[in-house]
Amino acid sequence: MSEHCYVRAGSVSSLIGFCLAIVCFMALAPADAVAQGQDCITCHEQQSPGIVAQWNDSKHSEAGVSCADCHQAGDEDIDGFEHHGQRISVIVSPKDCSQCHVDEFDQQKGSHHAKAAEILGSLDNLLGEVVGGEPAVVVGCRQCHGSEVKIDETGRPTADTWPNTGMGRINPDGSRGSCSACHTRHSFSVAQARQPESCGKCHMGPDHPQIEIWNESKHGILYHANREKMNLDSEEWVAGKDYFTGPTCASCHMGAGGDEGVTHDVGQRISWTLRPPVSDKLNMVVYEDLSKKDVMGESPELPAVGETHDGKKVTEVITWQDRRDKMQEVCIQCHAKPFVESFYTQYDNLVVLYNEKFAKPAKAIMADLKAEGIISKANFDDQIEWIWWELWHHEGRRARHGASMMGPDYAWWHGLYEVSKHFYTDFIPELKKVAGEEKAAELLEKYVYSQDGHLWHRDGISDDVRQRIQNFYQSRYKQ
Ligand code: HEC
Ligand code: HEC
Ligand code: HEC
Ligand code: HEC
Ligand code: HEC
Ligand code: HEC
Ligand code: HEC
Ligand code: HEC
Repeated sequence: MSEHCYVRAGSVSSLIGFCLAIVCFMALAPADAVAQGQDCITCHEQQSPGIVAQWNDSKHSEAGVSCADCHQAGDEDIDGFEHHGQRISVIVSPKDCSQCHVDEFDQQKGSHHAKAAEILGSLDNLLGEVVGGEPAVVVGCRQCHGSEVKIDETGRPTADTWPNTGMGRINPDGSRGSCSACHTRHSFSVAQARQPESCGKCHMGPDHPQIEIWNESKHGILYHANREKMNLDSEEWVAGKDYFTGPTCASCHMGAGGDEGVTHDVGQRISWTLRPPVSDKLNMVVYEDLSKKDVMGESPELPAVGETHDGKKVTEVITWQDRRDKMQEVCIQCHAKPFVESFYTQYDNLVVLYNEKFAKPAKAIMADLKAEGIISKANFDDQIEWIWWELWHHEGRRARHGASMMGPDYAWWHGLYEVSKHFYTDFIPELKKVAGEEKAAELLEKYVYSQDGHLWHRDGISDDVRQRIQNFYQSRYKQ
């Protein structure tokens, strides 16, 4: 054991982890891995002291997990190269981590996070690659979604595909994802990953402002006011037990609470998808190879556990209601069930309002314009396509996201306010311009004015609503 002398001095408490790590070494790594780790450290203490210091401050160093345990490459690894007498690789993929963390790897494997780089067919991608340009995709989209890492003839990752810790990164060994998307190297700290800022690198901005919404919410306020009481370093981190105030992103989407354990599939507890033009309920089918499939709809036909579906055996079916129950199990560690259910009613109602009043009519009109050749088949070459795009992809998402996570300013001013303003003052006028008054009137009668909620726009505000508004301003502002 004398070659384990690089283990950080004074880490007696980590004896168990240390023994565990040794079991890992014996099972998975060549016997001389530990000695190689010592070489790496001696030299890298001079070359890149920051990296060694980060590692030294980690649970890994306490447990005796060293440089070579993660970076060592086998002969078969295409991303391996000779480095001062050792064959190493720069890329450390989720598969490499799974040697010791198989549960986290298995949960992450079929998740949306692991598939985040599969965006090639999307409208967003057309925008990025064609309307924008490749260098912007490299430093933009792919830093969040993940690149496909390519290896050059020296065995190193190419500069156009790495550095990259995008969420669904496609690795040279075929595995998907990047664990350091949340657990930044080389501390790989769980406390850091539990903080909302870890998610906020990607979950922000005009089309998915989750961190801004959370910061605005009571939950964000409470977290910032009580950060030192959050017990972020605790090994167990159960809502209501290990901390009792302001939940973070990780609390609700990954964390333990009541009967729910920690999960590395952030989608497990989501019942609506808020991303497409029209939201729908999400059901999840899990297969024996740990892959997962979304089945949309309120009550769709779902395969049964044990059945073969899409050529694979089904091991679990999680309906949208089950997913909602999982989320609510966490909420009720800090709230009463009726409170939580009423919150969900408010949230559902906003999603339905957005869907029915704005998204479905606009979507139907866009489809008719295309089908009748009034606008071209190509995307983003007509002004009305940009208006519709921002209506659902930015403003409509903000409204839905704001409602889902208790951010009133995003639900209304950045959200449904913008949707309605642009629907009435940009979308409808542009429709009249491209389709002509007569055709526009026909489409509007069919899809828009067929709903009472839009009649004010055709017929003017009704007398009693006008009177109510007048009374309000008179009594409040004497105007
Ligand atoms: C004799 C000194 C020395 C030893 C021993 C050494 N390294 Fe390095 N390493 C370097 C230097 C210097 C660099 C900077 C890149 C360069 O100049 O090649 C580097 C770069 C790296 C890189 C980045 C490579 C790249 O192309 O981006 C990794 C990863 C790495 N070392 C890991 C290790 C591991 C793991 C070990 C032990 C198995 C190790 N090193 C042993 C000196 C060393
Ligand atoms: C728990 C696994 C793990 C351990 C232990 C580990 N690394 Fe790394 N290292 C990574 C990961 C993950 C990356 C990011 C590579 C990627 O994007 O896949 C990385 C990247 C690097 C890089 C290139 C990136 C940069 O910031 O320059 C160097 C150099 C490096 N490691 C050196 C070391 C050295 C030296 C040690 C030991 C003190 C070490 N690593 C220990 C997982 C590890
Ligand atoms: C050789 C085995 C091994 C490898 C490879 C390995 N780990 Fe670990 N990891 C451990 C051990 C052992 C611990 C300590 C366990 C404990 O303290 O409960 C640990 C702890 C952790 C923790 C908890 C840290 C904390 O603050 O509590 C995280 C997160 C983690 N590893 C992530 C990773 C990631 C990501 C990778 C791949 C880049 C990786 N590990 C690779 C063995 C390994
Ligand atoms: C700041 C990080 C970030 C950037 C930059 C970014 N995205 Fe995203 N993207 C996300 C996040 C986070 C989501 C998930 C949002 C949600 O669930 O609300 C997402 C969602 C998507 C989706 C929907 C996926 C689905 O399964 O429905 C597509 C497609 C997409 N992005 C493509 C792109 C493309 C293409 C670009 C560049 C032109 C891009 N994104 C730029 C973070 C980013
Ligand atoms: C989306 C962000 C995110 C990604 C990506 C991620 N993790 Fe984690 N991880 C977390 C959070 C948050 C926790 C703390 C969960 C808790 O205790 O509530 C955690 C906890 C852990 C732990 C500690 C488990 C324990 O029981 O103490 C390990 C080990 C770990 N992650 C490994 C990994 C590995 C391996 C990967 C890649 C396959 C990975 N993580 C990817 C966010 C992430
Ligand atoms: C490196 C960027 C990145 C980070 C960091 C990140 N995410 Fe994501 N997240 C994404 C992208 C991209 C998607 C969309 C994936 C897709 O469906 O293609 C996504 C999707 C999601 C979803 C929707 C999943 C589903 O199944 O519908 C949730 C929930 C989520 N992330 C939560 C989190 C939480 C919580 C954290 C922090 C602990 C986090 N994310 C960190 C990029 C990121
Ligand atoms: C109080 C618990 C809670 C917190 C804290 C929280 N969320 Fe959520 N999140 C939810 C709920 C509830 C939904 C809607 C779930 C549903 O549709 O059933 C949701 C939905 C989402 C979605 C899906 C959006 C889509 O487009 O389909 C993403 C992504 C997400 N959250 C990310 C985050 C991130 C990132 C943070 C932190 C900045 C965060 N959440 C904080 C409860 C929370
Ligand atoms: C760790 C404890 C904790 C968890 C978990 C938690 N909350 Fe909260 N939540 C609070 C506290 C504390 C408040 C502040 C109550 C107040 O307004 O005084 C709060 C406030 C709220 C509010 C009121 C917002 C406002 O602006 O008045 C809603 C709605 C809410 N939570 C819903 C949820 C839902 C839904 C979940 C689960 C998805 C959840 N919470 C999870 C602790 C928690």
